[in-house]
Amino acid sequence: MRTARTKDELRRRLEAWRREGARIGFVPTMGALHEGHLSLVRLARERADRVVASVFVNPTQFGPHEDFGRYPRQPEKDATMLEAAGCDLLFLPGVDTIYPPGNATFVEPAGAALGLEGACRPGHFRGVATVVLALFNLVQADVAVFGEKDAQQVAVIRQMVRDLHLPVEIVPAPTIREADGLALSSRNAYLSPQERQAATVLYRALRAAAELITAGVGERRGDEVRRCLREVLASEPLAQVEYAEIVDAETFAPVDALQGKLVLPLAVRIGGTRLLDNIRLAVEDVAAGG
Ligand code: PAJ
Repeated sequence: MRTARTKDELRRRLEAWRREGARIGFVPTMGALHEGHLSLVRLARERADRVVASVFVNPTQFGPHEDFGRYPRQPEKDATMLEAAGCDLLFLPGVDTIYPPGNATFVEPAGAALGLEGACRPGHFRGVATVVLALFNLVQADVAVFGEKDAQQVAVIRQMVRDLHLPVEIVPAPTIREADGLALSSRNAYLSPQERQAATVLYRALRAAAELITAGVGERRGDEVRRCLREVLASEPLAQVEYAEIVDAETFAPVDALQGKLVLPLAVRIGGTRLLDNIRLAVEDVAAGG
């Protein structure tokens, strides 16, 4: 695996591959890598001839009081893990490479970016969309892989790709979990042993809500699903809920009568650590199904 830190290094490598006619896959990350990230690299490997991964802790997607300063950084370990997962090129840019001094242009996503994470973290998706567009332009990949762990991010990126006619295919990858259901996250490193135990409540809440919809009579009222999520989350004293929702999978707007492709997204604080999780499910049209 090679490492490129500058635009020139990146461009030289990509030009050589393009001359060979290689299909290029891309996995953007903020590093502190775990099995979840590596599963994205492996999926990119299946979909492309060459895989580029980026590690860049993007300052513009963090709010002023968020964890940008203490976000875990371990570039050497990340490089070793990426190489073992079959990555061909690590792009490890500095802040000045992504944001040229004096830069003043941003992508302002609305639609799917407005609620939930967008409402709790003003400016977050502006920072995500801006850096992802910049990275897409630098890497010019044929296919890019994003984790369903951040389901709203996937919806925002898909919306940007559609709206701005970006020539890249977006491939979503399933969430990788610990044996007890906790979704892998770089931020799990912040949890104390007691908080780590409490964090299992997110997936337990999602499973309970999914069962309410899919088993028995089959609940179809959005508010009953929200109530179920909150009831399970309230059983854990260390958990503080920011949102526990059921939304349309494409628009991320809350739904009342359950229908079609849905996402149940959660944002929960466990102690000082903010954790996200979600599950997807589809509710068939009963009338159409006969
Ligand atoms: P980061 O949080 O590092 O995540 C990088 C990618 O890994 C994202 O697509 C995320 O959804 C995926 N991922 C994280 N945990 C996962 C898990 N447990 N299972 C499967 N995939 C998982 O998301 C970002 O970085 C940034 O916002 C970025 C897109 C890089 C822009 O800065």
